[in-house]
Amino acid sequence: MSEQTHAVPEAVQEGSAEALIRLQGISKVYGKSKEPVVALSDVDLVVRRREFVAIMGPSGSGKSTLLSIMGLLDRPTSGSYLLEGVDVTGLKDKELARIRRDHFGFIFQHYNLFPELTAVENVEVPMIYAGVPARDRRRRAKELLEQVGLGHRLNHRPAEMSGGEQQRTAIARALANAPTVLFADEPTGNLPTEQGRQVMQALKELNEQGMTVLVVTHDPGIALWSQRLLTIRDGRIVSDEPTAQSQLLKTQAALFAEDVEP
Ligand SMILES: Nc1ncnc2c1ncn2[C@@H]1O[C@H](COP(=O)(O)OP(=O)(O)O)[C@@H](O)[C@H]1O
Ligand SMILES: [Mg+2]
Repeated sequence: MSEQTHAVPEAVQEGSAEALIRLQGISKVYGKSKEPVVALSDVDLVVRRREFVAIMGPSGSGKSTLLSIMGLLDRPTSGSYLLEGVDVTGLKDKELARIRRDHFGFIFQHYNLFPELTAVENVEVPMIYAGVPARDRRRRAKELLEQVGLGHRLNHRPAEMSGGEQQRTAIARALANAPTVLFADEPTGNLPTEQGRQVMQALKELNEQGMTVLVVTHDPGIALWSQRLLTIRDGRIVSDEPTAQSQLLKTQAALFAEDVEP
């Protein structure tokens, strides 16, 4: 990075062609004792800016582990992780926390909102930690809630909102510090179909505005919203294809849809 051997810096030359995330030989083994669990095994993966990636696979296949490692919430046991060309595997916890705060947004199956705070106050929380002045953060929180279709729920507390509304509040909160990437682990796992659709609609609009989105799901109907589908099995990526070309996914989605019909 610090070497300036070219007239034009590498990052500028390559522009958005530089991988946002590049994993090389990433493995994750839990537990050092007699029965270690290999959650990820020698994963190579490149994610570019503005991609909308779905990660599917059976329960226990390593989806959450993969997302946590990419989101710098967890460290790999071995392998390298380049974030915009910079190796982040050796960084200190504090440096990882700063990258997460400034560049990453997270959404989980359980919305993790503060029950005693209103929607707008929940969205303000990350901005308090980032030192945004009170008036600015209130204005921005309102704008973000409007963006996810919750302009009419600003002063509602989580218990006064549907699951889908709570999850969209969590999305607005994840956007507070203007991240580059959104990581979502089973974001619709607790939601009825229509509320899940609204959550995915919000993520799709963000992606269309330039956000890189990575979503873990085991619902084929949710994966259909993505552009790129990764399938993971026993800690290995076993397929990586444009979502629109996945015949298996379309068949599964159709079966799922029939399942829920009365
Ligand atoms: N903190 C942990 N300690 C030990 N084993 C873990 C831990 N987290 C996950 N695992 C194991 O790693 C494997 C992959 O887990 P996970 O990434 O959560 O899968 P998925 O999200 O696909 O269901 C599973 O066998 C799981 O039991
Ligand atoms: Mg999981």
